Amino acid sequence: MEPVNIGVVGLGTVGGGTVDVLHRNSAEISRRAGREIRVSRAAVRDLDRSRSCDTSGITLTNDPFEVANDPDVRVVVELIGGETTAFEIVMEALEQGKHVVTANKALIATRGNEIFRAAHERGLVVAFEAAVAGGISIIKILREGLAGNRVKQLVGIVNGTSNYILTGMHERGSDFEPMLREAQALGYAESDPTFDIDGVDAAHKLTILASIAYGIPLDFSAVYTEGIGTIQGKDVSYAEDLGYRIKHLGIARRRGNRVDLRVHPCLIPETHLLASVDGVMNAILVEGDAVGQTIHYGAGAGANPTASSVVADIVDVVRTLTADPGNRVPHLAFQPTALTSKDVTPLGDIECAYYLRLLALDRPGVLAEIARILGENNVSIEAIRQQGTKNNDGNVSVVIVTHKTREMSMTRAIGAIEALPAIAEPVMRIRLDTLEA
Ligand code: HSE
Repeated sequence: MEPVNIGVVGLGTVGGGTVDVLHRNSAEISRRAGREIRVSRAAVRDLDRSRSCDTSGITLTNDPFEVANDPDVRVVVELIGGETTAFEIVMEALEQGKHVVTANKALIATRGNEIFRAAHERGLVVAFEAAVAGGISIIKILREGLAGNRVKQLVGIVNGTSNYILTGMHERGSDFEPMLREAQALGYAESDPTFDIDGVDAAHKLTILASIAYGIPLDFSAVYTEGIGTIQGKDVSYAEDLGYRIKHLGIARRRGNRVDLRVHPCLIPETHLLASVDGVMNAILVEGDAVGQTIHYGAGAGANPTASSVVADIVDVVRTLTADPGNRVPHLAFQPTALTSKDVTPLGDIECAYYLRLLALDRPGVLAEIARILGENNVSIEAIRQQGTKNNDGNVSVVIVTHKTREMSMTRAIGAIEALPAIAEPVMRIRLDTLEA
């Protein structure tokens, strides 16, 4: 069969890695795809810059639309990120009858509904395995491998940068800033690292995973999102003392007719497999009614792991070039006409346990007042500890772990505790989850 020409938009970390992998493994890739795959065209921002990958045989341009409009290109690989120019390039490629591969989670999470509609109308594929969890083939697993299941819950460590930072705080007692700088230097962080730290990147990924798991349209705005910026070294070590690790989680959990969609830091038992997912590694727990709990682990970021998923998508698309569009796996796992919206649990209605850290005056009766407020709000205490010695103002840290309760009750209790004269600063609240459906 004729070789297939592909065009790559963006030769940064992931684009360079993709060209490398395609060159390095070209013989095996051709055997898998049934024909040779070659990068014939690529768009870069600066034509004069030296490149990490070998660009011989590739016609370079600084106009990405030239790639989307190139009549010799069958598949456009969008690797520039962002939601504006990337959207225009993808829509232009579809308009020109080209299949698309993208690693762009922000694009899929926020504009995926429009993009998939346009692709479906034209009988084209938009593949996005690399948009979630780098090298882990979680889209394929959910969409195909677990297609027989009713998904009960999906819990993921899906942001490598946050996981890298939390791991450094745990293992090295490091501060937040140096760990973030390291993650940036290693190429894991987004160009705007607040996306990693504030949980936006994880929320983009959870939006995509939840849609595929539950057959709901993509709705990024429905995800409650909290980052790791407020976690202090002492929270990490107090959690350890209690037998927990703090991880930044994306949680999509079926709850009756509703689904919880939330991204936030969370204490999890140190004995759980997810607790030992460290550094830039990602892992996603998927629990289906038939299969039970499964955990999928691998590198969540970086040039080669992400390129592994991009190239797998390219191979998939090339294989389907000759297939009837009606026989392809639907973009969001469910047939487009079968996607149905689901109510998302309002934050106040979620139920979980909590870790609370308070700075309280070390004098008789203070703990009794705190316990009274918790009790009045239907919050039951599992453990309580005074940590360290009192500071110069006579205040001491108190850590409380509660049993499961409603977020609404916890919020009310925290408000009342903060109003006590003996409480010196806002209460630190971190949710705690045993990861059972
Ligand atoms: N910034 C992302 C992360 C890269 O840290 O996981 C992969 O999406």
